[in-house]
Amino acid sequence: MVTLSDEDRLLFDAAEKVRARAYAPYSGFSVGAAILADDGNIYAGCNVENAAYPVGNCAEPSAIAAMLAGGGTRIEKIFVTGPGTAPVTPCGGCRQRIREFAGPRTPIICLGVEGEPLFTTLAELLPHSFGPEFLGRQP
Ligand code: THU
Repeated sequence: MVTLSDEDRLLFDAAEKVRARAYAPYSGFSVGAAILADDGNIYAGCNVENAAYPVGNCAEPSAIAAMLAGGGTRIEKIFVTGPGTAPVTPCGGCRQRIREFAGPRTPIICLGVEGEPLFTTLAELLPHSFGPEFLGRQP
């Protein structure tokens, strides 16, 4: 893998640590997400599947919930890790969930742990997006 910055390495380590605790018995596809929040802390979450498949949830909302519970309010950067060689990019629903707490230039790093990271941004993954300011709420 390319050499990560110290900050990105901390996020990668946190995402991998929590990925090991993912509950993914149905897909076998364990995902970890780590957020650097506006309070300077790192918050991590994993996917949590369910026998009733549609009610399972992704790693990203788990990390967002951990951020809010821990006192963070904004996503400064998010790192997502999963299996394989292709970068594990947030699903469409998760892009919108990240949008609620991030800006267009917020870095999103996506990694399949056997491959190379994709360094992208929220605006690249979710262009022309709808968000809180449309409802009069400023971030
Ligand atoms: N998954 C995530 O947790 N995050 C993503 O960004 C992509 C997909 C999970 C959902 C499901 O538990 C498994 O990966 C397979 O789709």
